[in-house]
Amino acid sequence: MKVARVLITAEEIQAKLAEMGAEITRDYEGRDLLMIGILKGAFVVLADLARHVQLPVETDFMAVSSYHGGTHSSGVVRILKDLDSEIEGRDVLIVEDIIDTGHTLKYLLRTLAVRKPATLSLAALLIKDDVERPHFDIQYEGFHIPNEFVIGYGLDYEEKYRNLPYIGVMDADSTTSSTDVQEGFRLAD
Ligand code: IMP
Ligand code: MG
Repeated sequence: MKVARVLITAEEIQAKLAEMGAEITRDYEGRDLLMIGILKGAFVVLADLARHVQLPVETDFMAVSSYHGGTHSSGVVRILKDLDSEIEGRDVLIVEDIIDTGHTLKYLLRTLAVRKPATLSLAALLIKDDVERPHFDIQYEGFHIPNEFVIGYGLDYEEKYRNLPYIGVMDADSTTSSTDVQEGFRLAD
C-alpha cells in the first residue's frame, strides 16, 4: 500500500478552501485579481479555491520544477512554462500546493516581482513545519503539517497520486515498490 495514513480528508480540505476563498473574496473586492497556479501540483487546489472566490478572477499557470522525481528537493528551480499573461500593474495571487524548503517560492517571488505587479500575495494549502527556510509572508494559509512526504490532492510521488482526493502520508516502505496502488485509492471511501 502506498498511503500509510490519511492526514487531511477531502471534506477538511474543502472546508478550509471555503474559508480561504471567503477571505480572498473580501480582500480583492473591486480589484483585478489574477490567480496563478504553480504546476503541476497546484492544478487541483487552484481549481477548487478559485470556485470559492466570488469575484470575476482570471487564472494563469506557471510550471516550474524543483524536485526531480524523488522525495528530496534539489534546490535547482527551472521555469518549464511561463505565464501567458503580463502581470505589470495587476493584483497577483500565487497559489501553491505546498511549501517545503521554500526554494520554489523564493525563486518565483523574485522572478515575478521583477515584472512589477501592483500586489503580489501568496496562498498555500500546505506548509511543512520544522523545515528551515527563508521567511515568507503567506497571506492565505491552509494547513501546517509535519515534515513528512505527502501525496494526493495535486501532490505526486513520481508523477502519480495527484488525483487522490485527500492528503495522505506515503508509506516509507513502498517507495521502492509500486504494488497495491488500488489500496490507497480505496482509503478515500
Ligand atoms: P519547495 O521548493 O521545497 O518548497 O517545494 C515545493 C514543491 O516541491 C511543491 O510545489 C511540490 O511540488 C514539491 N513537494 C514538496 N514537498 C512535497 C511532498 O511532501 N510531497 C510531494 N511533493 C512535494
Ligand atoms: Mg512534485
